[in-house]
This record gives sequence, C-alpha cells and structure tokens, in this order.
Amino acid sequence: MRKKIVAGNWKMNTLPAEGIKLAKEVISKSGKVPGEVELIIIPPFTHLTEIAKLTSGTRVGVGTQNCAQWKSGAYTGEVSAAMIQALGAGYVIIGHSERREYFGETSTQLLEKIRIALEHQLTPIYCCGEKLIEREAGNHFAVVKQQIEESLFPLEANEMASVVIAYEPVWAIGTGKTATSDQAQEMHQHIRQLLIQRYGAELANEISILYGGSCKPSNAAEIFSKPDVDGGLIGGASLVADDFIAIAKSF
Ligand code: 13P
Repeated sequence: MRKKIVAGNWKMNTLPAEGIKLAKEVISKSGKVPGEVELIIIPPFTHLTEIAKLTSGTRVGVGTQNCAQWKSGAYTGEVSAAMIQALGAGYVIIGHSERREYFGETSTQLLEKIRIALEHQLTPIYCCGEKLIEREAGNHFAVVKQQIEESLFPLEANEMASVVIAYEPVWAIGTGKTATSDQAQEMHQHIRQLLIQRYGAELANEISILYGGSCKPSNAAEIFSKPDVDGGLIGGASLVADDFIAIAKSF
C-alpha cells in the first residue's frame, strides 16, 4: 500500500512567531486525521530549528522547500542537505515550479539535488507540472514526461523507492483554478505508467504521487478519491491549520 501524504508548503510566508504558532496548531489538531495519513509541514528555513523541535516525537513530519545541489563550501546563501538533516527534517521539496521559473533551476541541477537529498536520508518531494500555454497546446503529457525522465529516470530503483512525486500544474498554483479530478487522475496515471515502464509495476505502485494547485477543503475529497492520487501538496490552504487538517481528513 502506498503512503497517503498531505504536505503543507508554506512558501515565503509567516514570520517565525507566526510559523511556530501555526505548527503548534497543526500538531495539536493532528489527532483528528486518520493515522495512516502522513502529515508534513514545510516552513521557511528560518523557522526550521524551532519547528523541528516542536514536531519531534509527534506524528507531524517537517521538511524544507529547497536544498543546495552541493555538499558544502563557498555557495553564498545556500543551505545544504546535511544542515537540513542535522536539524531533524525528513523531507525536501525539489523542483517546485516557482524555483524552476524564478531561479532557473534545470533538470540536471534537480537531479543533483535529489541525489544529495537521498544521500542525507531526506525524502525528496519532486515537483513536475505543465504551464497553461503547454496544456493549451496539448503538450502537457510530453512536458511532464520530460521532467520525469530527465530528473528521476537516471536514479536507480533503490533510490527511486524513496522519492515522492507531486504533480502541480502551474496554471492551478495560487490561482484558485484547480485541475478537475479527472485531469489530475489522467496525469497521475500517465506518471505512474512512465514509472512502470522504467522501474516495473511493483515499485511504481509503491510511489506516492501528490496533487498540488489550489487544493482546499472543498475540493480535496473529490481529488483524493481518484485511484492514482495519493494526497496533496498544499500551498495557501496550509497556512490555516483548520483548512490543512480538513484537507488531510478528506481521504
Ligand atoms: P496553492 O495551494 O496555493 O495553489 O499552491 C500549491 C503549491 O504550489 C504547493 O507547492
């Protein structure tokens, strides 16, 4: 059985005191969520030390929104996988469309980030997804295929077994325009087929594929009901503890 996961990507939101309050609220309400659902909060780096202490020993996991592709050294402004691991985080988002778009992250660089994250026992949450113009041109399946092939397929099966994938259509992120559950399912199925071809059905069926893009309490149940949707990567709605918890209860 693959894991059901609901992860909250806080992006560049909350000051430390606000983030700590939000984390405490999520932890205190996490008992309302069925035990088999993995809950993860992903705050900005500045709050990680404090929040990792709060989540330690609870059912709520913690992750970061990025990591450097290098081990250590003269890379001003970067945060290494070893630093993240040392603080007790277990997950790292890699290849979010905002990082591809605003920081020019390339597929080769993302593969390096995934590898270094895995070396430090961090679970990469690898994001893929097409832009509106690509969907309108009918290229969405090809775009996502390329993102999967370039940054994931060089991985060995034992490495791939520790990766979580998030499909986040760029046109649905922060726009209030969610993919329909059928659109999500057909892309998740497409991704799983690619994984089957590369790694075989047994491994492919163990990999969790999350949906992200304007997911909220009112639409999560419908999206999560689809067979290849294993949870969500939540942006805006993860900043409100009750909404985040309500989404996680939607399976
Ligand atoms: P929204 O839920 O705000 O659309 O953001 C989705 C996202 O980008 C999560 O990584």
